[in-house]
Amino acid sequence: MAPTPKPGLIRRLFGWLFSPSAKWSVFALLLAGLVAGAVGVVGTQVAVAVTGTNEFCGNACHSHTKFVYPEYKASVHGSNRTGVQATCSDCHIPHSYPAKLFYKAEAGIRDGIAEMQGAISTQEKFEAKRWEMANHVWEEMRANNSANCRTCHTPEAMSAEKQSEDAVKQHKKFASGKATCIDCHTGMAHKEPEEPKAVKPAAAASPDSQAVVQAAAAK
Ligand code: HEC
Ligand code: HEC
Ligand code: HEC
Repeated sequence: MAPTPKPGLIRRLFGWLFSPSAKWSVFALLLAGLVAGAVGVVGTQVAVAVTGTNEFCGNACHSHTKFVYPEYKASVHGSNRTGVQATCSDCHIPHSYPAKLFYKAEAGIRDGIAEMQGAISTQEKFEAKRWEMANHVWEEMRANNSANCRTCHTPEAMSAEKQSEDAVKQHKKFASGKATCIDCHTGMAHKEPEEPKAVKPAAAASPDSQAVVQAAAAK
């Protein structure tokens, strides 16, 4: 029989990790665990804060500095009479934990890879992809009843006297669940995206889609 080989590095590491400590007291180990936990929690919070600013989201990717940030700054949510802003993350990232962390991790990896591949590195590429990207955002907002918009805008707090008749009438559709904010208010921080001429059947099937109107008009 061949002699038993020396266990591999991973096996030895596991053996070491799972054998009781002969050197450290339970208290010392507990303290080390608590410190490591605290560093993890604080570190995560700092990372979330740093990667949630307009400066970071607007500039981490070249494509955003060139095409996205300037449009946002000129929009009503980037600059207005009172100076109250909605930041990129206010609209794009879930506000509750742990959804916020999962979303940031997924979007960070996906966007990071796409940026490195140069998916939207030129104005032409960006415009070509804009409709698809916008639809991705709209789908998310329709799915959660425009939750992020409603972290700032509370329909019950809207004063009917101060809004136009049209707005008051339309906002009743929100209250009755017939429509959500993003069904009516698109292009609130970016240029209104244009639907490409060659329409996919899935996009045309959407009832409020421009394509339906265009198709009806063409008949
Ligand atoms: C961080 C808070 C915040 C979030 C999130 C937010 N908004 Fe706003 N929004 C504001 C503020 C503040 C104004 C008013 C700016 C001003 O005119 O002084 C505003 C203005 C508006 C207006 C009026 C635009 C105009 O031209 O007068 C609309 C419509 C609107 N928001 C829709 C939305 C929608 C839809 C979303 C979600 C996609 C959203 N908002 C998310 C804070 C927010
Ligand atoms: C069915 C369509 C519809 C839905 C759904 C809807 N709105 Fe509106 N909203 C309008 C119209 C139309 C106006 C008036 C636009 C104008 O006067 O230029 C308006 C105006 C506004 C204004 C500006 C008010 C003012 O007087 O300046 C804000 C802010 C706003 N909506 C936010 C929201 C938010 C937030 C939601 C979701 C909770 C929402 N709306 C849902 C159609 C809608
Ligand atoms: C008021 C909410 C709001 C804010 C603030 C906001 N966005 Fe958006 N964003 C949207 C919505 C809604 C869409 C979907 C298209 C549309 O309706 O404009 C979108 C679309 C996009 C797209 C797809 C391309 C496009 O133009 O449609 C990118 C990329 C993007 N946002 C990045 C950002 C970045 C980066 C910031 C901050 C500099 C930011 N957004 C700020 C709501 C917002």
